Amino acid sequence: KKWYAVIGNPIEHSMSPLMHSTWIEKEGKNASYIPVHVLPENLEAAVTSLKLLGCSGWNVTIPHKESIIPFLDEIDDTAAQMGAVNTVVRMQDGRYKGYNTDGLGFVRSLEEAVGIDHRHKSVLLIGAGGAARGIAFALKQTGYRQINIANRTISKAQAICDDLDIEAKALTLERASEDLDRYDIIIQTTAAGLNKSEFSMPIGLKRLSKTAIVADIVYNPMMTPFLKEAKRSGATIVTGLGMFIHQGALSYSYWMGSYPNAKDVEELLLRQIG
Ligand code: ATR
Repeated sequence: KKWYAVIGNPIEHSMSPLMHSTWIEKEGKNASYIPVHVLPENLEAAVTSLKLLGCSGWNVTIPHKESIIPFLDEIDDTAAQMGAVNTVVRMQDGRYKGYNTDGLGFVRSLEEAVGIDHRHKSVLLIGAGGAARGIAFALKQTGYRQINIANRTISKAQAICDDLDIEAKALTLERASEDLDRYDIIIQTTAAGLNKSEFSMPIGLKRLSKTAIVADIVYNPMMTPFLKEAKRSGATIVTGLGMFIHQGALSYSYWMGSYPNAKDVEELLLRQIG
């Protein structure tokens, strides 16, 4: 029997075991998926153990996505560009390769919600952390060409723009807020609105266009203060749950060879979030 895992610290609130176990059962695979609590100082030993015990693959969550890279045998190009791995796959020769499905997971979720007809439109990414970097590259890979990035620390936004190598512009949060009506798709990637975060609105939404699509990557709570206000302004909103589901679905497809049904787990996860 094959077995898979998710490693992180903390790990008890991860919804990945429920999601993957549901897919495994629905698709009748002979496999299981377990959560494993790994403290940062034990990461190398944990990876050695997972390999030794023949784990077929695992997800990597906070805080190990960057630090796991030196302990893997090979890193996919996209994950190397991101500097972060969220999926590990045991290859046929028994070596372990790291991938990153977060950015593409977001784009799949966005296009599942609003279709693929928006690729020529103007995108504003808010935030310039690891999540924003992954999404920016995945948008570019999918064919989006107009991507601006606003961040509190503008140098971090500029660094992503430079690496993207398309006509991307870095701007301040204030500037983004003033010119908001220029953007068709607005993607919130900071911790704003997370249950435990102290700040809830990275930019003001007064100038938001009614025809805009507004997405948030936070899914707990599902309706972040940012999405609530965007909805009040008449915008189409996309919650962060889809990104979580599709990053997992992509991992699953790397392991099992088939793309699972996002709908099979949506209700279940919604009930977990409450
Ligand atoms: P992740 O890997 O999840 O993207 P991260 O790398 O810690 O997380 O990035 C957090 C993002 O939220 C950054 O863009 C950060 O802005 P800075 O680059 O200026 O630090 C943004 N952020 C966090 N707290 C913020 C706050 N109080 N106001 C505005 N932006 C904030």
